[in-house]
Amino acid sequence: MKISVLKESHPGEARVAMTPGTVTKYKSEGHEVRLVSGAGLAAGFRDSAYEDEGAVIADTPQAACAEADMVLCVNRPEPDVIAQLPEGAALIGLLDPFNTGEALEEFNARKLTTLALEWAPRITRAQPVDALSSQSNLAGYRAALEGAHLYGRAMPMMMTAAGTVSPAKVFVMGAGVAGLQAIATARRLGAVVTATDVRAAAKEQVESLGAKFIAVEDEEFSAAETAGGYAREMSDDYKARQAELTASHISKQDIVITTALIPGRPAPVLITQEMVETMHPGAVIIDMAVTQGGNCPLSRPDEIVEHAGVKVAGFSNLAARVATDASSLYARNIHNFLPLATGEDGSFQLDTEDEIVSAMLLTHGGETVNERLKS
Ligand code: NAI
Repeated sequence: MKISVLKESHPGEARVAMTPGTVTKYKSEGHEVRLVSGAGLAAGFRDSAYEDEGAVIADTPQAACAEADMVLCVNRPEPDVIAQLPEGAALIGLLDPFNTGEALEEFNARKLTTLALEWAPRITRAQPVDALSSQSNLAGYRAALEGAHLYGRAMPMMMTAAGTVSPAKVFVMGAGVAGLQAIATARRLGAVVTATDVRAAAKEQVESLGAKFIAVEDEEFSAAETAGGYAREMSDDYKARQAELTASHISKQDIVITTALIPGRPAPVLITQEMVETMHPGAVIIDMAVTQGGNCPLSRPDEIVEHAGVKVAGFSNLAARVATDASSLYARNIHNFLPLATGEDGSFQLDTEDEIVSAMLLTHGGETVNERLKS
C-alpha cells in the first residue's frame, strides 16, 4: 500500500500523523511511506529521521500523495489540499464530522473514502484506535500543568523554616478521560484535589486517584451509583441542589479545570460569570470545552481572559502542547486501524461490514454514506 502523510496547517497544531517509529512498522509490513517535507518538525521529528526509517520526503502535498492508497492527517485538510489528493484515495484523521460544512462536497468531488477517528465507537475492540481518548489523556495532563503555571503560586504544601505554604485547591469538573488525567496530574503536583461528574459511577474512579468526589449524596445519588455508567438521568431537584453545592465549592478553589462534554452538543455552562466573581483574585479556570462553546461563558479560544482578577484560559489544542507524545499515540492509533483496511494481499481493502469501519466512514465513491450525516 502507498501511504502518505500530510503536513498540518492549523494554527497552533504541532502534531503529525506518523512518527519515525511507526514508519518502521509500516515498512516492515511491506508498505511505502511518503511525507510532506517538514511534516514532523514541530513534533520533534526531522525529515532525515523519517528517511532513516525508509520513508520518502516530497515537497508538496500533491507530490507526497501521488497514487496514494491512504492519506493520513491529524486535522481535516484545507480545501486546496483536499483538491490535490488523488481521486478515490482514503483519508483518515480527525475530520471534525460534527462540523462538516462544505467538506463533504469537497471529499465527494475527489471520490475520497473518508474515515473520521472521532466516530470510532467507544467499544473495547475499538480502544486501540480511539484517538480522542489518547489525545484527551495528554490534554488533561497539560491542562493541569497550564493551570499550575497560570496560578503563579505553589501547588504543594511546603513546610519551611520561614513558615508553611498551603497546598493549592484544584477542582476538576467532568471526570472522563481528560478529567481523570487532570486529577492525577494535579495530585502529583501536590494539590488538594476534588472533582465532580454527572455520572455517579465516576465517584469510585475519582477516589481511586486520591481526590474527593463532590456530590449531593442522598438516596437518589446512591441509586444512580448502583445503576452505574450513564444509566440514570438525575431529577431536576437533584440537579439544582448539586449546582448549589458546586457553586459554593468553586468559590473556595484556586484552580478549576472544566472538561464537561456531551458529544456533538454545545458544552453545558458549569461556571457562570457570577460564580467567577465569587472566586479570589489570582484563581484560574482552565476551560477544556472552549471549542464547543465552553463550560464558562467568559472563556475564549486561545485567550486568557481576566475577569475580577480571575484568569479564564481556553486553550483550544492542549494535546498539541505535548506534541511529541501526542503524535506517538496518535500515529499508533492510526496504525492499529490498518488491519481493517488491508486485504489478504496487503492492498487497500476496507472491511465496510466491520462495526468500527462503518461508524467512522463518512464518504465513499462520491457519496456521503454515514447515516449520522444523512439525518
Ligand atoms: P469524556 O466524554 O471522556 O468525559 C466528559 C465527562 O464530562 C464525562 O465523564 C461526563 O459524564 C462529564 N459531564 C458531562 N456533563 C457534565 C456536567 N454537566 N457536569 C459534570 N460533568 C459532566 O470526554 P474527554 O475525552 O475527557 O474530553 C472532555 C472535554 O475536553 C471535551 O469537551 C473535549 O472536547 C475537551 N478536550 C479539549 C482539548 C483541548 O485541547 N482543549 C483536548 C481534548 C479534549
